[in-house]
Amino acid sequence: MTPSSWVTAWAGLVPPGATVLDLAAGNGRHTEFFAGRGHPVTAVDRDVSGLAPSDTVEVLAADLEEGSPWPLADRRFGAIVVTNYLHRPLFPALFAALQPGGILLYETFMEGNERFGKPSRPEFLLKDGELLDLVRGRFSVTAYEARLISQPKMAMVQRIAARLL
Ligand SMILES: C[S@@+](CC[C@H](N)C(=O)[O-])C[C@H]1O[C@@H](n2cnc3c(N)ncnc32)[C@H](O)[C@@H]1O
Repeated sequence: MTPSSWVTAWAGLVPPGATVLDLAAGNGRHTEFFAGRGHPVTAVDRDVSGLAPSDTVEVLAADLEEGSPWPLADRRFGAIVVTNYLHRPLFPALFAALQPGGILLYETFMEGNERFGKPSRPEFLLKDGELLDLVRGRFSVTAYEARLISQPKMAMVQRIAARLL
């Protein structure tokens, strides 16, 4: 369960002990990574079979789409990590779930990725500059990339590390 190099590169922005939300956590590679750094982590996915709750890991089974209500009510987190997942209607709730000064680490596929396989449908691919456009005026951007990567596989990705103002 290798964490994303983007997440490991910028995890140091997350203050010690800050709560972390791992949204669409999958098999929990970033849940495990942040729990290992001493953070209380809440992992959310519709399929929680790959996620193990513990003293520091809360696992929530929830459908984040299909008109389902946001599963975290008014809870706020010190950091939110989202990788390889995009459901645009979630962005307002996602940003509202960050504490002031909270850190957003977001990385997913962007347009151009269809050359390399899936995801290839426009609803799953960020548009050029989309993450920057989303955070403009609301976050301080520490790092941003939009580029081809070769590891763990060839893909066009967009990724951001930003702090809520
Ligand atoms: C490609 S995986 C990425 C997992 C993890 N973030 C990672 O990078 O290792 C996408 C994840 O989104 C979850 N997912 C897809 N649709 C969902 C939905 N409607 N509600 C909740 N989770 C969903 C899947 O179950 C899967 O775990």
